Amino acid sequence: MASPPPPYPLILSLLLLISTAAVTTAITIPISPSSAPASTDLHQILAHLASASVSRALRLKSTHNLPQVKTPLFPRSYGGYSISLSFGTPPQSTSFVMDTGSSLVWFPCTSRYLCSRCNFPNAKKFSYCLVSHSFDDAPVSSDLVLDLDSGSGKKTAEVSYTPFRKNPVTSNSALQTYYYVNLRQIVVEGKHVKVPSEYLEPGSDGNGGTIVDSGTTFTYMERPVFEAVVKEIGKRMANFTVATEIQDLTGLRPCYNVSGQDTVSVPELSFKFKGGAEMKLPVTNYFVLAGDGAICFTIVSDNVVGTGLRGGPAIILGNYQQRDYYIEYDLEKERFGFKRQVCA
Ligand SMILES: *[C@@H]1O[C@H](CO)[C@@H](O)[C@H](O)[C@H]1NC(C)=O
Ligand SMILES: *[C@@H]1O[C@H](CO)[C@@H](O)[C@H](O)[C@H]1NC(C)=O
Repeated sequence: MASPPPPYPLILSLLLLISTAAVTTAITIPISPSSAPASTDLHQILAHLASASVSRALRLKSTHNLPQVKTPLFPRSYGGYSISLSFGTPPQSTSFVMDTGSSLVWFPCTSRYLCSRCNFPNAKKFSYCLVSHSFDDAPVSSDLVLDLDSGSGKKTAEVSYTPFRKNPVTSNSALQTYYYVNLRQIVVEGKHVKVPSEYLEPGSDGNGGTIVDSGTTFTYMERPVFEAVVKEIGKRMANFTVATEIQDLTGLRPCYNVSGQDTVSVPELSFKFKGGAEMKLPVTNYFVLAGDGAICFTIVSDNVVGTGLRGGPAIILGNYQQRDYYIEYDLEKERFGFKRQVCA
């Protein structure tokens, strides 16, 4: 499959192998959470999501243009979001994982799918609102909206925008595929977490910086960034016991034992972007009830000691943290926008 040109290739253009009998300026496609996991054990599910998020981060951070494909623990990529598209005459429905971290879309290539007079419209803008994973087994979906019209470049009401940034290394097309944003500050309960700028800004080697990826479940932070954030959270949660057993079972960290508490107040977490856009995450977007009276932080890092994983983006903003936000990729104005919205 071909890859669209930089700087902000739109994988969704490839998805539109749709015969355009009628010319429309917007296409709306329902998005559903991916199918249910093979396991019903909560700890196993969380462990799978955590390891899948880290594996995905490794793949995205790999600067090879044809990344290695790893076999996931479960055959279905639970924790992602899929879209269903119809191809051919009569239409045959196929599920796709909605993935802004790749310029490739995988489609079963058999003689049953012959594409004649196929059209590849280029969207100027696309937006989505991801429903909570609590709807995974329910027939609930939200919309992926592709705007084909050049539009007026108007801002969507109440949406905060931050410009996309280009990765400074132009020679590596793997890095050019991603949607980079300027994350300037990570704030925990009003306190600005000290993160070395080499992680927030892509350097001349192309490493560092933040990308937005709908195909990653839990946001990934390179170790030093992650530790700085976790340290700040730990200070605010000092009155709770760390649930080490749950940490071992889920691979998430930190987990706290909050059993017996009527209400638990956890520190606020927010991401501040260039231009002043601030994403104040709802608590359910960064803490999960992990069973046995424990809650776990749903941002992950790798377990490699030292700098083994340096390279590629340092922060990958995953779909778990994007839930219940209206998210807009304005490709024409080269900006990323978001606002809180209940998606379902
Ligand atoms: C821990 O509990 C003590 C006593 O109730 C309280 O004074 C303190 O502020 C709490 N610490 C945190 C970090 O919440
Ligand atoms: C949390 O603490 C309670 C009471 O001390 C204990 O019964 C329970 O097993 C603990 N849960 C975890 C996940 O450690």
